[in-house]
Amino acid sequence: MQARLAADIAAAEDLDALEALRVTTLGKAGSITALLKSLGAMTPDERQAQGPQIHALRETITAALAERKAALDAAALDIKLAAEAIDMTLPADAAPKGSVHPVSQVMDELAEIFADMGFAVATGPEIEDDWHNFTALNIPETHPARAMHDTFYFPDKDAEGHAMLLRTHTSPVQIRTMMEKAPPIRIIAPGRVYRSDSDATHTPMFHQVEGLVIDRGIHMGHLKWTLETFLKAYFERDDIVLRLRPSYFPFTEPSAEVDVGYKQEKGRRIVGGHGDDDGHAWMELLGSGMVNRRVIANCGLDPDEWQGFAFGVGVDRLAMLKYGMDDLRAFFDGDLRWLAHYGFGALSVPTLSGGISA
Ligand code: PHE
Repeated sequence: MQARLAADIAAAEDLDALEALRVTTLGKAGSITALLKSLGAMTPDERQAQGPQIHALRETITAALAERKAALDAAALDIKLAAEAIDMTLPADAAPKGSVHPVSQVMDELAEIFADMGFAVATGPEIEDDWHNFTALNIPETHPARAMHDTFYFPDKDAEGHAMLLRTHTSPVQIRTMMEKAPPIRIIAPGRVYRSDSDATHTPMFHQVEGLVIDRGIHMGHLKWTLETFLKAYFERDDIVLRLRPSYFPFTEPSAEVDVGYKQEKGRRIVGGHGDDDGHAWMELLGSGMVNRRVIANCGLDPDEWQGFAFGVGVDRLAMLKYGMDDLRAFFDGDLRWLAHYGFGALSVPTLSGGISA
């Protein structure tokens, strides 16, 4: 019986067949279980004579079952491994990679350029109160920027009963910084701003970078040098020529609109050169000026001791000029094909040494 059983087990074709053999031998009603049970009904002599053989049979069969199971498991694993073999010679699937949005790219470039000149990055809320967005910046109640059709107001009111609003510029960050930090101050403040405007060159939400310097003895020469150094680094060319045009902002005095020389090439504006040179023209790029004494005083600083300059520039516009996009609205359409066309490497960080737009 032992030899036949052992042969059957060794010949079991699969795990199911092997399990069936286990049940008929060692299972509850199995033949070997029955033999083991019969020991209880034997006389001590009979038990002494037959016990060792029956136990030995059980051990042999148990071992045979385990051995066959191990062999069948190993064979099943071999089949599985053969089926799942990886062909190392196949080209790898391309890993999906995101890309940096041009607005983020340009903001990173500006942060890097200004960090090199000792400017920190400051931020403020996009939902502002009337005081920070207008009053502290010396913008009078009657100023057109406060009109309902120019600005998005909320039903909620601030502590003084004025409606809260989506900030119309990054200039309130000037106020927040002067209120929080003691001068000297050198910051840029990139962020979203909102105006009730919509066409090919205006979107209701767009991006600005504010610049602010407050220190002793600051004058317009510092402003011009800073803007020139920034624009040369940003456009990655030395022939940037600026023209400062007298202008008006309530929060700067004097104020200057800053133009750059450019020329038209293959339907694109290429920044560089003197705007009065042949084939060149001037284009308005940003607003700037010396921080108004009233603004400095509104922030609790003594304007006789502290002076400074400020500027504000459109990030989207800077991106369009450098990278050649022609429709501002495409920036915010969320079209992945546009992003792929103009998108930047997910892992490339602009640095002055490694390349600003590399
Ligand atoms: N806040 C102004 C604007 O949005 C720009 C500006 C900033 C002008 C700082 C002068 C100084 O148009």
